[in-house]
Amino acid sequence: MDEFSVELHEISKRFGQTTVVERISLRIRSGEFFSLLGPSGCGKTTTLRIIAGFESPDSGELLINGKLATHTPPQERDVNLVFQNYALFPHLTVEQNVAFGLEMQKLPRAQIRERVGKALELVRLSGLGARLPHQLSGGQQQRVALARALVTEPSVLLLDEPLGALDFKLRQEMQLELKRLQRDLKITFLYVTHDQEEALKMSDRLAVMHQGRVLQIGPPQEIYERPATRFVADFIGESNFLEGRVVHTAGRRAVVQIGPLQTNVFSDTPLQLHQRVTLALRPERIQLCLPDAGNGTWTGLVEELIYIGKETRYRVRLSPEITVTVSSPGASNGITVGERVGLTWDPQSLRPIEEYSA
Ligand SMILES: Nc1ncnc2c1ncn2[C@@H]1O[C@H](COP(=O)(O)OP(=O)(O)OP(=O)(O)O)[C@@H](O)[C@H]1O
Ligand SMILES: [Mg+2]
Repeated sequence: MDEFSVELHEISKRFGQTTVVERISLRIRSGEFFSLLGPSGCGKTTTLRIIAGFESPDSGELLINGKLATHTPPQERDVNLVFQNYALFPHLTVEQNVAFGLEMQKLPRAQIRERVGKALELVRLSGLGARLPHQLSGGQQQRVALARALVTEPSVLLLDEPLGALDFKLRQEMQLELKRLQRDLKITFLYVTHDQEEALKMSDRLAVMHQGRVLQIGPPQEIYERPATRFVADFIGESNFLEGRVVHTAGRRAVVQIGPLQTNVFSDTPLQLHQRVTLALRPERIQLCLPDAGNGTWTGLVEELIYIGKETRYRVRLSPEITVTVSSPGASNGITVGERVGLTWDPQSLRPIEEYSA
């Protein structure tokens, strides 16, 4: 098996004057669950369509299983696409929908029947083969779409927001089932979603896209813990952004002045004295402590407090210009609006990030 299932080298695509995919480079490993994550309109579907062969890129190269495939016709690529809106044939039964690709390949009837049966079993739809799509629930239709894509046994499955139309509970169930399927079949999954939790939960690695570009690629934990840009820190989870200036450096440690406040920052690449820097700090990485506790803690006034069940969110004003959001598990433990509180955090949680201007 090749090390990489899908490789994109500097792929670009324009529609008219607009560049919708801009020099995207990705290498997706064989058997990997890889997600493309980004807001609506950032070019996710277009990227999948280029890999499937329904769009051709203006520049760049595409390799599938180590072979150049930039201009290979779709049916000759060892990939299959599950569309954003299922796209089942409404007048064909479940079985006929799933059999479609195999009939195009003109396989013997008995073989088709056997493989369709197996595919329906895989997605747990055995027994519903004679129904029409409109006689199925959304989740069941979704499984038919999946069976239809799996039945031709591609080495790469491209999935375009396959769970987008499902309600929260069903979505969570299907997430687990998709993971199971991918593990059992050892197929490469390239999964598109704009749901950050889904991408973090399901992927081995993911790429965060914005306006046609890939901003960061990595395993979920790295993307969440070490967002490279403001966009990534904001899109994946939530962040406070603090803008300051470096007033002291000592190797990987620097002291940053943010308005009247100072803090220690540790960074992989040393910061320069006097440089401007934006720091990202996740609300759940800040702990409340006693006010005026010293030792690098900050003190502020609780301006707003919202209890939302699993956590309480505090808006804390640190200076006339600076407020931060803090989130703590559970209820507020008697803290009230107007109270003075201290804030503390693990210095590793405070991340200098690159500015990325959209
Ligand atoms: N055939 C086309 N002709 C012109 N513009 C297009 C075409 N297809 C897509 N676009 C534009 O390209 C951009 C990217 O579209 P794309 O469908 O790839 O986004 P997406 O990330 O999949 O978004 P969503 O999450 O809403 O599905 C959008 O601005 C869209 O309007
Ligand atoms: Mg799309």
